[in-house]
Amino acid sequence: QANERESLYLVSEFANTYFQNTMLKTDQGKSIGLSYFKERGFTDETIKKFGLGYSLDEWQAFTDEALKQAYKLEYLEKTGLTIVKGEKRFDRFKGRVMFPIQSMSGRVLGFGGRILINDKKAAKYLNSPESDIYHKSKVLYGIYQAKKSIAKEDNCYLVEGYTDVIQFHQTGIHNVVSSSGTALTPEQIRLINRLTKNITVLFDGDAAGLRASLRGIDLILEQGMNVKVCSFPEGEDPDSFAKQNTLEELSLYLETHAQDFIQFKASVLFEDSKNDPIKKAETIRDIVNSIAKIPDRIKKEIYIQECSKIMDISEAVLFSTLAQIDKKEN
Ligand code: CTP
Ligand code: MN
Ligand code: MN
Ligand code: MN
Ligand code: MN
Repeated sequence: QANERESLYLVSEFANTYFQNTMLKTDQGKSIGLSYFKERGFTDETIKKFGLGYSLDEWQAFTDEALKQAYKLEYLEKTGLTIVKGEKRFDRFKGRVMFPIQSMSGRVLGFGGRILINDKKAAKYLNSPESDIYHKSKVLYGIYQAKKSIAKEDNCYLVEGYTDVIQFHQTGIHNVVSSSGTALTPEQIRLINRLTKNITVLFDGDAAGLRASLRGIDLILEQGMNVKVCSFPEGEDPDSFAKQNTLEELSLYLETHAQDFIQFKASVLFEDSKNDPIKKAETIRDIVNSIAKIPDRIKKEIYIQECSKIMDISEAVLFSTLAQIDKKEN
């Protein structure tokens, strides 16, 4: 229903303005929210560009204000901004800094809210629930701010988190989006596919980041897109790395460390399989599986040649493996 969706948009946009004003104009907002972002190195310009805000550490300050302004409880509940329990109402995001999640055209769909002090008991990020306007699997954080630059640069950097996107912008790289907490989906890749055929996956320098990027590669290849991968030093993520470096240093790092997916898979998987024939065979099969996802036959062939060189195995064997996989899938 178009009207209902519009009502959800309106209440989300109200919340967005409210959280921004709370951060910039209240004592608690300034001393807690704004100083949190300042400590992370974000400038006023950056904070404004991404509409960052703060939700008071009170049970229902936001909900009360929204109701006072005649927004309906029904929509507050449907967007997840308010949690209703019998007669009681609670703000979902309590004492958190707020990241509005926007559509390609800039409408506010939902929020991510971060706690201020890392604490093993509470989730670091709390996100809006699915609603008629917010479908996690179809949204990319930062797409509104990045779309022009993605088309212009003909490449899209894909990172894991909100702050990675923001810190890249502040450093001067604007063609960057994040899947933010969900494993990359085909719908998210399709959003990028409308703007460019080239994706560079940048993942956190930890085991979780590595796993996520390996999963994402095949999905990207399936859509006929080109994928490169770039890792960061252990313990760093794109945010922390960008923060410590100038635009020139960051650009140089990305240029020199971005690997084609096949080199990447080979180097990661090959690392512990070099001297073990069985593991080496598995690695080769894994890479050929990825190559099988590429729709373009010429590209397939080029990658088979490359794989043959890197893994030191004959092209003939690789082609017959590829044929086996193709047969199984069709
Ligand atoms: N995430 C989430 N819920 C969590 C943890 C993470 O939704 N409990 C999502 C967030 O979108 C986050 C992304 O996964 O940005 C990447 O997680 P992580 O690397 O742990 O967080 P960072 O983005 O690095 O966050 P920060 O630098 O603020 O600690
Ligand atoms: Mn800039
Ligand atoms: Mn991580
Ligand atoms: Mn991270
Ligand atoms: Mn981080």
